[in-house]
Amino acid sequence: MIPKELLELVRLEFVLSWHSVHGEPHWTRVRENGLRLARLTGARLQVVELFALLHDSKRLNDGRDPGHGKRAANFARTLRGSLIQLPDEDFELLAFACEYHTDGWTEAEITVQICWDADRLDLGRVGIRPAPSLLCTTAAREPAMIEWAFLRSQQCYGAQQGFR
Ligand SMILES: [Fe+2]
Repeated sequence: MIPKELLELVRLEFVLSWHSVHGEPHWTRVRENGLRLARLTGARLQVVELFALLHDSKRLNDGRDPGHGKRAANFARTLRGSLIQLPDEDFELLAFACEYHTDGWTEAEITVQICWDADRLDLGRVGIRPAPSLLCTTAAREPAMIEWAFLRSQQCYGAQQGFR
């Protein structure tokens, strides 16, 4: 469960267009992808949800922006103990997942892998069908999972619910 105050802060500080390819409809789908994968793998739900909300929240543009993962991790650190309440081990997983989510790695702790897979399964929004070889887990590589996520990622943004 994401605290309402955290959601409001992230929305307030987000500098890109709401409906950009890295905006809230994307965060929402990453959350849904992640929760579905977490149920199959035992990944830590709260970390997966926080990753979905935070990982692109500090983007300055919709291009490469190589520093945005590190900025997201640092943003999370500033909220630790206030709006983000996680045990040490879970917090380190969240920070690691955010910082390195665009580096293309596939080997990591299972919760981190699920965070990265949840994000990569949403590539259909930019016209890319996720390649199984770029996904971390067998759960994400399932053809039915890829297809489900791909179809959702191509839905009209106007039909998306906000993050919740
Ligand atoms: Fe993302």
